[in-house]
Amino acid sequence: MKSSPWHRLSLRTRLALLYGVLLAVILCVLGGGLYLDTRRFLLDSTARRIRAQAKPVIEHWLYPGEFMPPLWGQKGKGRGSVNLARIAPFLARDLTSRDTVALVLDSHGKVLAVGKRLPEEPPAPSPVPEYYSRALAGENEVSYTAWVKGHHLLVLYVPLRSTPGGREILGAVQLGVYLAPVDKVLFRQRLVLLLGIGWALLIGCGLVFILTTSSLKDLTRMVATCRAIAGGNLSQRVDLPKREDEIGELARAFNDMVDRIETSFEAQKRFVAKAAHELRTPVTVILGSLEILMRGVQDDPTTATKLIQNMYKEALGLSRLCEELLDLSRLDLSAHVNKEEVDLKEFFSSFVVKASILAKERRLILREGPPVVLRADTRMLEQILYNLLDNAVRHTKRGQEIAVGWGIEGEEVKIWVADEGEGISPQDFPHIFEPFYQGEAGSGKGGTGLGLTLVKAMVEAHGGRVEVKSTPRRGTRFFLYFPKGQF
Ligand SMILES: Nc1ncnc2c1ncn2[C@@H]1O[C@H](COP(=O)(O)OP(=O)(O)OP(=O)(O)O)[C@@H](O)[C@H]1O
Ligand SMILES: [Mg+2]
Repeated sequence: MKSSPWHRLSLRTRLALLYGVLLAVILCVLGGGLYLDTRRFLLDSTARRIRAQAKPVIEHWLYPGEFMPPLWGQKGKGRGSVNLARIAPFLARDLTSRDTVALVLDSHGKVLAVGKRLPEEPPAPSPVPEYYSRALAGENEVSYTAWVKGHHLLVLYVPLRSTPGGREILGAVQLGVYLAPVDKVLFRQRLVLLLGIGWALLIGCGLVFILTTSSLKDLTRMVATCRAIAGGNLSQRVDLPKREDEIGELARAFNDMVDRIETSFEAQKRFVAKAAHELRTPVTVILGSLEILMRGVQDDPTTATKLIQNMYKEALGLSRLCEELLDLSRLDLSAHVNKEEVDLKEFFSSFVVKASILAKERRLILREGPPVVLRADTRMLEQILYNLLDNAVRHTKRGQEIAVGWGIEGEEVKIWVADEGEGISPQDFPHIFEPFYQGEAGSGKGGTGLGLTLVKAMVEAHGGRVEVKSTPRRGTRFFLYFPKGQF
Protein backbone atom coordinates (compact mmCIF):
# COMPACT_ATOMS: atom_id res chain seq x y z
CA MET A 1 0.00 0.00 0.00
CA LYS A 2 1.34 3.45 -0.87
CA SER A 3 1.88 5.74 2.09
CA SER A 4 0.03 9.04 2.01
CA PRO A 5 1.99 12.33 2.09
CA TRP A 6 0.70 12.81 5.65
CA HIS A 7 2.31 9.56 6.77
CA ARG A 8 5.55 10.47 5.07
CA LEU A 9 5.93 13.44 7.44
CA SER A 10 7.88 12.90 10.64
CA LEU A 11 5.90 12.32 13.83
CA ARG A 12 6.96 15.61 15.39
CA THR A 13 5.98 17.59 12.26
CA ARG A 14 2.61 15.85 12.29
CA LEU A 15 2.13 16.59 15.99
CA ALA A 16 3.13 20.24 15.52
CA LEU A 17 0.78 20.55 12.53
CA LEU A 18 -2.11 18.90 14.35
CA TYR A 19 -1.55 21.10 17.36
CA GLY A 20 -1.30 24.17 15.11
CA VAL A 21 -4.58 23.39 13.34
CA LEU A 22 -6.32 22.73 16.64
CA LEU A 23 -4.95 25.92 18.18
CA ALA A 24 -5.88 27.91 15.07
CA VAL A 25 -9.45 26.59 15.13
CA ILE A 26 -9.85 27.35 18.85
CA LEU A 27 -8.31 30.82 18.57
CA CYS A 28 -10.32 31.64 15.44
CA VAL A 29 -13.58 30.53 17.04
CA LEU A 30 -12.85 32.44 20.25
CA GLY A 31 -11.40 35.52 18.48
CA GLY A 32 -14.15 35.49 15.83
CA GLY A 33 -16.85 35.20 18.51
CA LEU A 34 -15.31 38.03 20.49
CA TYR A 35 -14.98 40.18 17.38
CA LEU A 36 -18.57 39.59 16.24
CA ASP A 37 -19.85 40.29 19.74
CA THR A 38 -17.94 43.59 19.90
CA ARG A 39 -19.20 44.53 16.43
CA ARG A 40 -22.78 43.80 17.41
CA PHE A 41 -22.36 45.74 20.65
CA LEU A 42 -20.86 48.77 18.85
CA LEU A 43 -23.57 48.81 16.19
CA ASP A 44 -26.32 48.34 18.79
CA SER A 45 -24.99 51.09 21.02
CA THR A 46 -24.57 53.42 18.00
CA ALA A 47 -28.14 52.68 16.94
CA ARG A 48 -29.37 53.23 20.50
CA ARG A 49 -27.47 56.49 20.77
CA ILE A 50 -28.79 57.83 17.44
CA ARG A 51 -32.37 56.80 18.24
CA ALA A 52 -32.08 58.41 21.70
CA GLN A 53 -30.77 61.60 20.11
CA ALA A 54 -33.49 61.56 17.42
CA LYS A 55 -36.38 60.97 19.82
CA PRO A 56 -36.64 64.53 21.35
CA VAL A 57 -36.15 66.13 17.92
CA ILE A 58 -38.94 64.03 16.40
CA GLU A 59 -41.21 64.65 19.38
CA HIS A 60 -40.40 68.33 19.21
CA TRP A 61 -41.58 68.55 15.61
CA LEU A 62 -44.42 66.03 15.68
CA TYR A 63 -46.01 66.86 19.02
CA PRO A 64 -45.04 70.50 19.71
CA GLY A 65 -48.12 71.50 21.71
CA GLU A 66 -49.67 74.87 21.41
CA PHE A 67 -46.52 76.98 20.98
CA MET A 68 -45.85 76.10 17.32
CA PRO A 69 -49.15 76.54 15.53
CA PRO A 70 -47.90 77.57 12.06
CA LEU A 71 -46.35 74.24 11.24
CA TRP A 72 -49.46 72.31 12.16
CA GLY A 73 -52.49 71.98 10.03
CA GLN A 74 -55.50 74.10 10.61
CA LYS A 75 -56.00 75.14 14.20
CA GLY A 76 -58.57 73.02 15.95
CA LYS A 77 -58.11 69.94 13.75
CA GLY A 78 -56.21 68.26 16.61
CA ARG A 79 -52.97 66.34 16.83
CA GLY A 80 -53.69 63.88 13.99
CA SER A 81 -53.72 66.62 11.45
CA VAL A 82 -49.94 67.30 11.46
CA ASN A 83 -48.66 68.23 8.01
CA LEU A 84 -45.63 66.06 7.52
CA ALA A 85 -44.68 67.65 4.19
CA ARG A 86 -44.32 70.99 5.91
CA ILE A 87 -42.29 69.89 8.91
CA ALA A 88 -40.15 67.38 6.93
CA PRO A 89 -37.37 69.85 5.94
CA PHE A 90 -37.00 71.04 9.55
CA LEU A 91 -37.08 67.52 10.92
CA ALA A 92 -34.47 66.38 8.37
CA ARG A 93 -32.28 69.37 9.07
CA ASP A 94 -32.40 68.98 12.88
CA LEU A 95 -31.73 65.26 12.69
CA THR A 96 -28.73 65.70 10.41
CA SER A 97 -25.33 66.21 11.99
CA ARG A 98 -21.63 65.60 11.19
CA ASP A 99 -22.01 61.81 11.33
CA THR A 100 -25.73 61.35 10.63
CA VAL A 101 -27.81 62.24 7.63
CA ALA A 102 -31.61 62.18 7.93
CA LEU A 103 -34.19 61.67 5.26
CA VAL A 104 -37.95 62.00 5.81
CA LEU A 105 -40.33 59.68 3.96
CA ASP A 106 -44.08 59.95 3.72
CA SER A 107 -46.42 57.00 4.31
CA HIS A 108 -45.88 55.82 0.66
CA GLY A 109 -42.09 55.89 0.89
CA LYS A 110 -41.72 59.09 -1.07
CA VAL A 111 -38.78 61.25 0.06
CA LEU A 112 -40.11 64.48 1.54
CA ALA A 113 -36.83 66.00 2.66
CA VAL A 114 -33.07 65.25 2.84
CA GLY A 115 -31.04 66.76 5.68
CA LYS A 116 -27.58 66.82 4.00
CA ARG A 117 -26.36 70.36 3.60
CA LEU A 118 -22.59 70.32 4.00
CA PRO A 119 -20.19 68.28 1.81
CA GLU A 120 -18.50 66.72 4.90
CA GLU A 121 -21.83 65.27 6.00
CA PRO A 122 -22.23 61.68 4.85
CA PRO A 123 -24.24 61.04 1.71
CA ALA A 124 -27.79 59.85 2.30
CA PRO A 125 -28.40 56.29 1.15
CA SER A 126 -31.41 55.82 -1.08
CA PRO A 127 -34.30 54.32 0.85
CA VAL A 128 -34.71 50.56 0.44
CA PRO A 129 -38.41 49.56 0.24
CA GLU A 130 -37.69 46.21 1.92
CA TYR A 131 -36.69 48.06 5.13
CA TYR A 132 -38.73 51.28 5.15
CA SER A 133 -41.93 49.35 4.43
CA ARG A 134 -41.36 47.56 7.74
CA ALA A 135 -40.95 50.91 9.53
CA LEU A 136 -44.07 52.20 7.79
CA ALA A 137 -45.86 49.10 9.01
CA GLY A 138 -45.04 50.20 12.58
CA GLU A 139 -41.80 48.33 13.36
CA ASN A 140 -39.59 50.45 15.63
CA GLU A 141 -36.18 48.75 15.37
CA VAL A 142 -35.47 48.48 11.63
CA SER A 143 -31.79 48.85 10.76
CA TYR A 144 -29.14 47.55 8.35
CA THR A 145 -25.63 48.45 7.23
CA ALA A 146 -24.71 49.49 3.69
CA TRP A 147 -21.90 50.96 1.61
CA VAL A 148 -22.72 54.24 -0.10
CA LYS A 149 -20.07 55.80 -2.33
CA GLY A 150 -17.23 54.25 -0.36
CA HIS A 151 -18.73 55.10 3.03
CA HIS A 152 -19.89 52.48 5.48
CA LEU A 153 -23.20 53.46 6.99
CA LEU A 154 -25.64 52.17 9.55
CA VAL A 155 -29.14 52.89 8.31
CA LEU A 156 -31.97 53.19 10.86
CA TYR A 157 -35.68 53.78 10.34
CA VAL A 158 -37.92 55.48 12.88
CA PRO A 159 -41.65 55.39 12.18
CA LEU A 160 -43.40 58.74 12.58
CA ARG A 161 -46.67 58.30 14.45
CA SER A 162 -49.51 60.81 14.52
CA THR A 163 -49.67 60.50 18.33
CA PRO A 164 -46.97 59.20 20.70
CA GLY A 165 -47.30 55.43 20.66
CA GLY A 166 -50.28 55.70 18.31
CA ARG A 167 -51.13 53.31 15.49
CA GLU A 168 -51.41 55.79 12.66
CA ILE A 169 -48.08 56.12 10.80
CA LEU A 170 -47.53 59.38 8.97
CA GLY A 171 -44.21 58.41 7.47
CA ALA A 172 -40.71 57.47 8.59
CA VAL A 173 -37.33 59.02 9.20
CA GLN A 174 -34.28 57.32 7.71
CA LEU A 175 -31.06 58.03 9.64
CA GLY A 176 -27.79 57.16 7.90
CA VAL A 177 -24.97 57.00 10.47
CA TYR A 178 -21.38 57.24 9.36
CA LEU A 179 -19.63 54.11 10.72
CA ALA A 180 -16.03 55.25 10.20
CA PRO A 181 -15.21 55.54 13.97
CA VAL A 182 -16.77 52.13 14.69
CA ASP A 183 -14.93 50.62 11.72
CA LYS A 184 -11.69 52.10 13.03
CA VAL A 185 -12.15 50.41 16.40
CA LEU A 186 -13.12 47.15 14.71
CA PHE A 187 -10.15 47.34 12.35
CA ARG A 188 -7.80 47.79 15.31
CA GLN A 189 -9.41 44.84 17.04
CA ARG A 190 -9.10 42.67 13.91
CA LEU A 191 -5.45 43.58 13.65
CA VAL A 192 -4.78 42.79 17.32
CA LEU A 193 -6.66 39.49 17.02
CA LEU A 194 -4.90 38.42 13.82
CA LEU A 195 -1.47 39.35 15.15
CA GLY A 196 -2.25 37.66 18.48
CA ILE A 197 -3.46 34.47 16.74
CA GLY A 198 -0.43 34.50 14.44
CA TRP A 199 2.01 34.85 17.33
CA ALA A 200 0.19 32.32 19.48
CA LEU A 201 0.31 29.81 16.60
CA LEU A 202 3.95 30.45 15.91
CA ILE A 203 4.99 30.18 19.56
CA GLY A 204 2.65 27.20 20.22
CA CYS A 205 3.80 25.20 17.21
CA GLY A 206 7.44 26.06 17.93
CA LEU A 207 7.10 24.87 21.54
CA VAL A 208 5.35 21.66 20.46
CA PHE A 209 8.08 21.03 17.92
CA ILE A 210 10.82 21.58 20.53
CA LEU A 211 9.05 19.46 23.16
CA THR A 212 8.29 16.59 20.79
CA THR A 213 11.83 16.69 19.44
CA SER A 214 13.21 16.21 22.95
CA SER A 215 10.58 13.55 23.76
CA LEU A 216 11.10 11.66 20.55
CA LYS A 217 14.89 11.79 20.82
CA ASP A 218 14.69 8.70 23.00
CA LEU A 219 12.52 6.97 20.40
CA THR A 220 15.15 7.75 17.79
CA ARG A 221 17.73 6.16 20.11
CA MET A 222 15.48 3.12 20.43
CA VAL A 223 15.31 2.82 16.65
CA ALA A 224 19.13 2.85 16.53
CA THR A 225 19.25 0.13 19.22
CA CYS A 226 16.66 -1.94 17.32
CA ARG A 227 18.81 -1.71 14.20
CA ALA A 228 21.91 -2.78 16.15
CA ILE A 229 19.99 -5.74 17.60
CA ALA A 230 18.64 -6.67 14.18
CA GLY A 231 22.27 -6.58 13.03
CA GLY A 232 23.04 -9.39 15.50
CA ASN A 233 24.19 -7.54 18.62
CA LEU A 234 21.74 -9.01 21.14
CA SER A 235 23.59 -7.55 24.12
CA GLN A 236 22.36 -4.03 23.28
CA ARG A 237 19.72 -2.41 25.54
CA VAL A 238 17.86 0.90 25.56
CA ASP A 239 19.08 2.89 28.53
CA LEU A 240 16.28 5.17 29.80
CA PRO A 241 16.21 4.63 33.57
CA LYS A 242 14.88 8.12 34.36
CA ARG A 243 11.86 8.08 32.09
CA GLU A 244 8.65 7.15 33.89
CA ASP A 245 6.32 7.97 30.99
CA GLU A 246 5.00 5.83 28.12
CA ILE A 247 8.33 5.96 26.29
CA GLY A 248 10.12 4.73 29.44
CA GLU A 249 7.53 1.97 29.68
CA LEU A 250 8.10 1.08 26.03
CA ALA A 251 11.87 1.00 26.60
CA ARG A 252 11.46 -1.33 29.60
CA ALA A 253 9.08 -3.62 27.67
CA PHE A 254 11.49 -3.58 24.75
CA ASN A 255 14.43 -4.49 27.01
CA ASP A 256 12.42 -7.34 28.57
CA MET A 257 11.63 -8.63 25.11
CA VAL A 258 15.28 -8.49 24.05
CA ASP A 259 16.25 -10.26 27.33
CA ARG A 260 13.88 -13.06 26.50
CA ILE A 261 15.02 -13.27 22.89
CA GLU A 262 18.64 -13.34 24.01
CA THR A 263 17.96 -16.09 26.55
CA SER A 264 16.11 -18.25 24.08
CA PHE A 265 18.71 -17.53 21.42
CA GLU A 266 21.48 -18.59 23.80
CA ALA A 267 19.50 -21.67 24.83
CA GLN A 268 19.03 -22.56 21.18
CA LYS A 269 22.71 -22.12 20.47
CA ARG A 270 23.60 -24.31 23.47
CA PHE A 271 21.05 -26.85 22.31
CA VAL A 272 22.48 -27.05 18.81
CA ALA A 273 26.05 -27.27 20.15
CA LYS A 274 25.09 -30.04 22.57
CA ALA A 275 23.09 -31.87 19.91
CA ALA A 276 26.07 -31.72 17.53
CA HIS A 277 28.32 -32.98 20.30
CA GLU A 278 25.99 -35.84 21.14
CA LEU A 279 25.78 -36.78 17.47
CA ARG A 280 29.52 -36.51 16.91
CA THR A 281 30.55 -39.04 19.59
CA PRO A 282 28.74 -42.09 18.12
CA VAL A 283 29.57 -41.01 14.58
CA THR A 284 33.29 -40.83 15.54
CA VAL A 285 33.09 -44.29 17.14
CA ILE A 286 31.36 -45.73 14.05
CA LEU A 287 33.85 -44.10 11.67
CA GLY A 288 36.83 -45.33 13.75
CA SER A 289 35.46 -48.88 13.84
CA LEU A 290 34.82 -48.81 10.08
CA GLU A 291 38.39 -47.63 9.42
CA ILE A 292 39.79 -50.54 11.42
CA LEU A 293 37.47 -52.94 9.59
CA MET A 294 38.56 -51.55 6.23
CA ARG A 295 42.20 -51.98 7.13
CA GLY A 296 41.58 -55.73 7.06
CA VAL A 297 40.71 -56.88 10.53
CA GLN A 298 38.49 -59.54 8.91
CA ASP A 299 41.26 -62.05 9.66
CA ASP A 300 40.48 -61.57 13.34
CA PRO A 301 36.79 -62.44 13.52
CA THR A 302 36.54 -61.82 17.29
CA THR A 303 37.71 -58.19 16.98
CA ALA A 304 35.56 -57.71 13.88
CA THR A 305 32.46 -58.97 15.71
CA LYS A 306 33.23 -56.75 18.71
CA LEU A 307 33.62 -53.73 16.43
CA ILE A 308 30.41 -54.49 14.59
CA GLN A 309 28.53 -54.94 17.89
CA ASN A 310 29.97 -51.64 19.08
CA MET A 311 28.89 -49.90 15.89
CA TYR A 312 25.42 -51.39 16.22
CA LYS A 313 25.14 -50.10 19.79
CA GLU A 314 26.24 -46.62 18.76
CA ALA A 315 23.92 -46.64 15.75
CA LEU A 316 21.05 -47.63 18.06
CA GLY A 317 21.92 -44.71 20.34
CA LEU A 318 22.08 -42.42 17.33
CA SER A 319 18.74 -43.55 16.08
CA ARG A 320 17.22 -43.02 19.55
CA LEU A 321 18.76 -39.55 19.75
CA CYS A 322 17.42 -38.67 16.30
CA GLU A 323 14.01 -39.92 17.35
CA GLU A 324 14.06 -37.77 20.49
CA LEU A 325 15.26 -34.69 18.61
CA LEU A 326 12.51 -35.19 16.09
CA ASP A 327 9.94 -35.51 18.89
CA LEU A 328 11.20 -32.29 20.43
CA SER A 329 11.03 -30.37 17.18
CA ARG A 330 7.52 -31.68 16.56
CA LEU A 331 6.48 -30.51 20.03
CA ASP A 332 7.99 -27.11 19.36
CA LEU A 333 5.63 -26.84 16.45
CA SER A 334 2.94 -28.13 18.90
CA ALA A 335 0.97 -29.58 16.03
CA HIS A 336 1.18 -33.27 16.86
CA VAL A 337 -1.03 -33.74 19.89
CA ASN A 338 -3.85 -36.09 18.90
CA LYS A 339 -6.08 -35.81 21.91
CA GLU A 340 -8.53 -38.60 22.59
CA GLU A 341 -10.48 -39.79 25.58
CA VAL A 342 -8.25 -41.93 27.79
CA ASP A 343 -9.78 -43.96 30.63
CA LEU A 344 -6.90 -43.93 33.11
CA LYS A 345 -7.90 -47.24 34.75
CA GLU A 346 -7.78 -49.05 31.42
CA PHE A 347 -4.68 -47.18 30.29
CA PHE A 348 -2.66 -47.91 33.43
CA SER A 349 -3.59 -51.61 33.63
CA SER A 350 -2.21 -52.20 30.12
CA PHE A 351 0.75 -49.84 30.71
CA VAL A 352 1.85 -51.67 33.88
CA VAL A 353 1.86 -55.00 32.02
CA LYS A 354 4.12 -53.60 29.27
CA ALA A 355 6.28 -51.63 31.72
CA SER A 356 6.98 -54.54 34.07
CA ILE A 357 9.53 -55.83 31.51
CA LEU A 358 11.25 -52.43 31.72
CA ALA A 359 11.16 -52.39 35.53
CA LYS A 360 13.95 -55.02 35.75
CA GLU A 361 13.56 -56.61 39.17
CA ARG A 362 12.14 -53.45 40.77
CA ARG A 363 8.73 -53.73 42.34
CA LEU A 364 6.38 -51.84 40.03
CA ILE A 365 3.22 -50.97 41.90
CA LEU A 366 0.07 -49.40 40.51
CA ARG A 367 -1.93 -47.25 42.90
CA GLU A 368 -5.28 -46.71 41.26
CA GLY A 369 -7.18 -43.49 41.73
CA PRO A 370 -10.84 -42.63 41.11
CA PRO A 371 -12.29 -43.30 37.65
CA VAL A 372 -11.13 -40.52 35.34
CA VAL A 373 -11.33 -39.97 31.63
CA LEU A 374 -8.52 -37.68 30.44
CA ARG A 375 -8.23 -35.94 27.09
CA ALA A 376 -4.69 -36.80 25.98
CA ASP A 377 -2.53 -38.29 23.25
CA THR A 378 -2.18 -41.96 24.32
CA ARG A 379 1.15 -42.45 22.54
CA MET A 380 2.62 -39.36 24.21
CA LEU A 381 1.23 -40.31 27.61
CA GLU A 382 2.93 -43.69 27.26
CA GLN A 383 6.19 -42.07 26.22
CA ILE A 384 6.06 -39.66 29.18
CA LEU A 385 5.55 -42.53 31.62
CA TYR A 386 8.22 -44.72 29.93
CA ASN A 387 10.74 -41.87 30.26
CA LEU A 388 9.91 -41.35 33.94
CA LEU A 389 9.95 -45.08 34.59
CA ASP A 390 13.26 -45.42 32.75
CA ASN A 391 14.76 -42.75 35.04
CA ALA A 392 13.26 -44.36 38.13
CA VAL A 393 14.72 -47.76 37.15
CA ARG A 394 18.12 -46.17 36.48
CA HIS A 395 18.25 -44.50 39.85
CA THR A 396 16.91 -47.30 42.08
CA LYS A 397 18.42 -50.55 43.22
CA ARG A 398 17.04 -53.99 42.60
CA GLY A 399 14.12 -54.85 44.84
CA GLN A 400 13.21 -51.24 45.53
CA GLU A 401 9.72 -49.98 44.90
CA ILE A 402 8.53 -47.86 41.97
CA ALA A 403 4.94 -46.71 42.20
CA VAL A 404 2.71 -45.17 39.54
CA GLY A 405 -0.80 -43.86 40.04
CA TRP A 406 -3.28 -41.08 39.50
CA GLY A 407 -5.69 -38.90 41.41
CA ILE A 408 -7.80 -35.76 41.13
CA GLU A 409 -6.76 -32.45 42.62
CA GLY A 410 -9.24 -29.63 42.19
CA GLU A 411 -9.71 -29.02 38.50
CA GLU A 412 -6.67 -31.11 37.59
CA VAL A 413 -5.85 -34.76 37.06
CA LYS A 414 -2.59 -35.71 38.78
CA ILE A 415 -0.47 -38.60 37.50
CA TRP A 416 2.62 -39.56 39.46
CA VAL A 417 5.70 -41.77 39.32
CA ALA A 418 7.57 -42.27 42.59
CA ASP A 419 10.72 -44.19 43.41
CA GLU A 420 12.71 -44.95 46.53
CA GLY A 421 16.03 -44.45 44.77
CA GLU A 422 19.04 -42.24 45.24
CA GLY A 423 17.15 -38.95 44.66
CA ILE A 424 18.34 -35.88 42.81
CA SER A 425 21.21 -33.87 44.28
CA PRO A 426 20.48 -30.17 45.07
CA GLN A 427 23.05 -29.08 42.40
CA ASP A 428 21.28 -31.07 39.70
CA PHE A 429 17.74 -30.26 40.78
CA PRO A 430 17.32 -26.85 39.00
CA HIS A 431 18.70 -28.22 35.71
CA ILE A 432 17.10 -31.62 35.20
CA PHE A 433 14.63 -30.35 32.57
CA GLU A 434 17.33 -28.67 30.46
CA PRO A 435 18.09 -30.40 27.17
CA PHE A 436 21.10 -32.77 27.35
CA TYR A 437 21.51 -32.18 31.08
CA GLN A 438 22.61 -35.28 32.90
CA GLY A 439 23.24 -35.18 36.60
CA GLU A 440 26.18 -36.80 38.26
CA ALA A 441 24.06 -39.83 38.94
CA GLY A 442 22.71 -39.82 35.38
CA SER A 443 25.89 -39.59 33.34
CA GLY A 444 27.59 -42.82 32.47
CA LYS A 445 24.29 -44.68 32.67
CA GLY A 446 23.53 -44.28 28.97
CA GLY A 447 20.97 -41.84 27.67
CA THR A 448 21.39 -38.32 26.38
CA GLY A 449 19.70 -36.07 28.91
CA LEU A 450 16.72 -35.38 26.67
CA GLY A 451 14.27 -37.62 28.57
CA LEU A 452 12.90 -35.05 31.02
CA THR A 453 13.06 -32.24 28.42
CA LEU A 454 10.68 -34.33 26.32
CA VAL A 455 8.47 -35.14 29.32
CA LYS A 456 8.07 -31.44 30.16
CA ALA A 457 7.46 -30.44 26.54
CA MET A 458 4.86 -33.18 26.05
CA VAL A 459 2.97 -32.38 29.26
CA GLU A 460 2.96 -28.68 28.38
CA ALA A 461 1.71 -29.50 24.88
CA HIS A 462 -1.34 -30.93 26.71
CA GLY A 463 -1.77 -27.69 28.66
CA GLY A 464 -0.38 -29.30 31.82
CA ARG A 465 2.66 -28.88 34.08
CA VAL A 466 5.30 -31.01 35.83
CA GLU A 467 6.42 -30.84 39.46
CA VAL A 468 9.22 -32.79 41.16
CA LYS A 469 9.92 -33.57 44.77
CA SER A 470 13.13 -35.33 45.62
CA THR A 471 15.13 -36.14 48.74
CA PRO A 472 18.65 -37.47 48.25
CA ARG A 473 18.89 -41.16 49.23
CA ARG A 474 15.15 -41.28 49.96
CA GLY A 475 13.68 -41.10 46.48
CA THR A 476 12.05 -38.93 43.81
CA ARG A 477 8.44 -38.20 42.90
CA PHE A 478 7.34 -36.71 39.59
CA PHE A 479 3.83 -35.20 39.47
CA LEU A 480 2.14 -34.45 36.17
CA TYR A 481 -0.90 -32.17 36.30
CA PHE A 482 -3.35 -32.17 33.37
CA PRO A 483 -6.42 -30.00 33.08
CA LYS A 484 -9.63 -32.02 33.35
CA GLY A 485 -10.89 -32.13 29.78
CA GLN A 486 -14.40 -31.08 28.79
CA PHE A 487 -16.47 -33.89 27.43
N1 LIG B 1 14.14 -40.64 39.26
C1 LIG B 1 15.30 -40.01 39.32
N2 LIG B 1 16.12 -40.15 40.38
C2 LIG B 1 17.30 -39.51 40.45
N3 LIG B 1 17.77 -38.69 39.51
C3 LIG B 1 17.00 -38.50 38.41
C4 LIG B 1 15.73 -39.13 38.26
N4 LIG B 1 15.18 -38.73 37.08
C5 LIG B 1 16.09 -37.89 36.53
N5 LIG B 1 17.18 -37.75 37.29
C6 LIG B 1 18.34 -36.87 37.03
O1 LIG B 1 17.97 -35.96 36.01
C7 LIG B 1 18.86 -36.06 34.89
C8 LIG B 1 18.12 -35.80 33.60
O2 LIG B 1 17.19 -36.82 33.33
P1 LIG B 1 16.80 -37.15 31.85
O3 LIG B 1 15.75 -38.18 31.85
O4 LIG B 1 16.48 -35.86 31.19
O5 LIG B 1 18.13 -37.65 31.22
P2 LIG B 1 18.79 -39.08 31.32
O6 LIG B 1 17.86 -39.98 32.00
O7 LIG B 1 20.14 -38.90 31.90
O8 LIG B 1 18.94 -39.45 29.78
P3 LIG B 1 17.77 -39.91 28.79
O9 LIG B 1 16.50 -39.80 29.54
O10 LIG B 1 17.87 -39.00 27.64
O11 LIG B 1 18.08 -41.31 28.43
C9 LIG B 1 19.42 -37.43 35.00
O12 LIG B 1 20.68 -37.49 34.36
C10 LIG B 1 19.50 -37.64 36.49
O13 LIG B 1 20.69 -37.08 37.01
MG1 LIG C 1 15.85 -40.22 31.32
